[in-house]
Amino acid sequence: HKYRPFRFSVDLPDRMWPDKKLDKAPIWCSVDLRDGNQALPVPMNVDQKLEYFKLLCDVGFKEIEVGFPSASQIEFDFIRKLIDDNLIPDDVYIQVLTQARPHLIERTVEAVQGAKNVVLHMYVATSEMHRNIVFKRSQEEVKKIAVDGTSYLKTLLPRLEGSNVLYEFSPEAFNMTEPDFALDVCQAVVDTWNPDEVGGKVILNLPTTIEGSTPNVYADQIEWFCRNFKGRDRIIVSIHTHNDRGTGVASTELALLAGADRVEGTLFGNGERTGNLDIVTVALNLYTMGVDPGLDFSNLPQIRSIYERCTGMSIHPRHPYAGDLVFTAFSGSHQDAIKKGMDLLKQEQKEYWEIPYLPVDPQDLGRSYKAIIRINSQSGKGGVSYILQEEYGLEVPKKMHPYVGKKVNEVSDKLVRELSTQEVYNVFMENFVNIS
Ligand code: KIV
Ligand code: ZN
Repeated sequence: HKYRPFRFSVDLPDRMWPDKKLDKAPIWCSVDLRDGNQALPVPMNVDQKLEYFKLLCDVGFKEIEVGFPSASQIEFDFIRKLIDDNLIPDDVYIQVLTQARPHLIERTVEAVQGAKNVVLHMYVATSEMHRNIVFKRSQEEVKKIAVDGTSYLKTLLPRLEGSNVLYEFSPEAFNMTEPDFALDVCQAVVDTWNPDEVGGKVILNLPTTIEGSTPNVYADQIEWFCRNFKGRDRIIVSIHTHNDRGTGVASTELALLAGADRVEGTLFGNGERTGNLDIVTVALNLYTMGVDPGLDFSNLPQIRSIYERCTGMSIHPRHPYAGDLVFTAFSGSHQDAIKKGMDLLKQEQKEYWEIPYLPVDPQDLGRSYKAIIRINSQSGKGGVSYILQEEYGLEVPKKMHPYVGKKVNEVSDKLVRELSTQEVYNVFMENFVNIS
């Protein structure tokens, strides 16, 4: 097939985002229980959802999309249980998704009656591809669906009397929508809701529903949108990136530079196709730049284990921060550098974490140093002496390091596999220590 060149970039020669720094955390919204769950081969049952919801609250999310209640009875019942059994912390907003059809809107409102804090989230696909292929509707017709849906939802607000209600609107496939048209629809939606009258800001969520271009193009679209929206202080600009091109994290980070206030995503990037944005990675990227992300990942192994159990998904060994191998160095030069860094850290009171090849202290994430150095035929003297020292308290004289390293490599080579720390110790004792 021939593929069409990307067509929806904006003309922004004086773009500001490339000169900005990521120096504060956004508002986070987890969509694990909706976008993440809808993409699972076996969606979560109610008990799993309850456990997952608690996990999200413990991590520190204050906005959690809990489902699409008009789409399934299970989702409806789960949301009712959260509300009726008082399981939602007072400072947490639950968010519910709906299409812009009156009977679905009504059912959505019914699902959240009695909740303390609610985000009502409506979406309408605005992209040219959706308009032409899926709906066969003109721009004006699509805009009318969004405006009429917003207007109808507003008429139901009295049913939520006593709740704190926020409204979120998503022009689905924003990144593949003509920028002028996306702006026009969003402007009309915000004017219809009229936050000055209803209270609160409108959350405008601008998704890369299917990634279609490089992250800089999306950042331009976000900066252009923020600049051209009339009444920027009436809205919260939210982003919701997917990962079709493997650039969900990059798109989110650049879009934050470009002016977005809020980020939707999931733990470890679960979600449709290649997934939603991985919030763990973006939050810990901020953390390792000295910015408090406002989310607590200090026990990542436990978070991972609940995630894996509830979703049935597994974490890739090289997944940033969470993978089994990400704090492991096999090669000799890396092991040597890490050992030097660790020694220096122990000797000096250093203000900052600075260890070559370890961008973050594994202990900050509830992980141990134990797995940092593993030994195979690629390993060098530094790693071997590190293991002997750290695991067995053996201070091997420096002059011996090359010999011990060489012997360990030979044994590993011969066995064609990695050696355990115990085996490294055995090689050392058998070849270099005279116990007679
Ligand atoms: O990816 C998407 O566009 C969505 C919307 C419903 C926000 O999930
Ligand atoms: Zn999505």
